[in-house]
Amino acid sequence: MISSSVEQAVSQLLQGNLVGIPTETVYGLAANALDEKAVASIFAAKNRPHFDPLIVHCSSLEEVKKYSTEFPAPLLKLAQHFWPGPMTLLLPKQPFISDLVTAGSPLCAFRVPNHPLTLEVLKSLPFPLAAPSANPFGYVSPTTAEHVENQLGEAISMVLDGGPCSVGLESTIVGWENGLVIYRLGGCTSEEIEKIAGVKISRVQTSSSQPAAPGMLDSHYAPKKKVVMVEDWNNTHCDCNQGFLFFGDQPFEAYHFRNLSEGGNAVEAAAQLFKFLRELDELPIEMIYTQLLPEAGLGRAINDRLKRASA
Ligand code: TXA
Ligand code: MG
Repeated sequence: MISSSVEQAVSQLLQGNLVGIPTETVYGLAANALDEKAVASIFAAKNRPHFDPLIVHCSSLEEVKKYSTEFPAPLLKLAQHFWPGPMTLLLPKQPFISDLVTAGSPLCAFRVPNHPLTLEVLKSLPFPLAAPSANPFGYVSPTTAEHVENQLGEAISMVLDGGPCSVGLESTIVGWENGLVIYRLGGCTSEEIEKIAGVKISRVQTSSSQPAAPGMLDSHYAPKKKVVMVEDWNNTHCDCNQGFLFFGDQPFEAYHFRNLSEGGNAVEAAAQLFKFLRELDELPIEMIYTQLLPEAGLGRAINDRLKRASA
């Protein structure tokens, strides 16, 4: 069921049930982060392996401080600047945050999302919300309430409809290991992060066959159709059985296509990416041909998702 009632969402979450929640990045599949049974039902609904830890969503920085034991100074600067926003921080957790949430890690991922309805929900609840993206494991993340309802509607009690996600890419995951480490590229750019933290990023560790974060799995965020990366459109022929995902100036007329941003704007492209991948996935085509964006700002995170979708 899709509804825009905050009261109804709060009531379901108080009962330990699962609710799809809107955030500025992507929709989440939320439950009481302090209730192991509720957390376990998230893994079941998503068909998600238990080694894949969850992000804990809080209403404010003050609340995050209650659930963590330590806040390295550069990460605190990031929190103060970017929260509420598309930034997730890995911090040492209090023992009362279950190991199920963190997959046994002493670090927990925290985020204050920037969506008015979800912030209202979080402020009304006496607990934070554990929430992965509300898609079946490995598939493209949802950016509308309908995406969630279509794929997980049967497993959850409701989806809180907050409209389409404004950012459209998952949060950037940042931690501190004697230096700033990026574990997932996302809605906050590396350029902004270095400027605000006042230190250089020492490591970007976003790909691995034995990942610390499954968002790091090489094939993740993938549609069902095969995605093929094109380096030079001049060598590609338009074929009605194929779909195309363009960015900026279009190289040729195509029958099945989407353009992430005709004006070549990476912010607009991010907001459209997952919706367009889903739409192309539903078309009567065999493959989706796409291209990388210039490797700067949000383009980096978009390219990361495109490469994983094509892996
Ligand atoms: O934008 C977002 O971050 C969205 C919205 C709903 O907040 N959430 C999201 O969650 O993308 P999910 O579960 O799809 O991706 C979270 C990533 C996973 O790859 C997970 O492995 C990593 O965060 N992660 C969570 N807790 C972690 C931890 N304690 N240590 C390392 N990685 C962690
Ligand atoms: Mg996800």
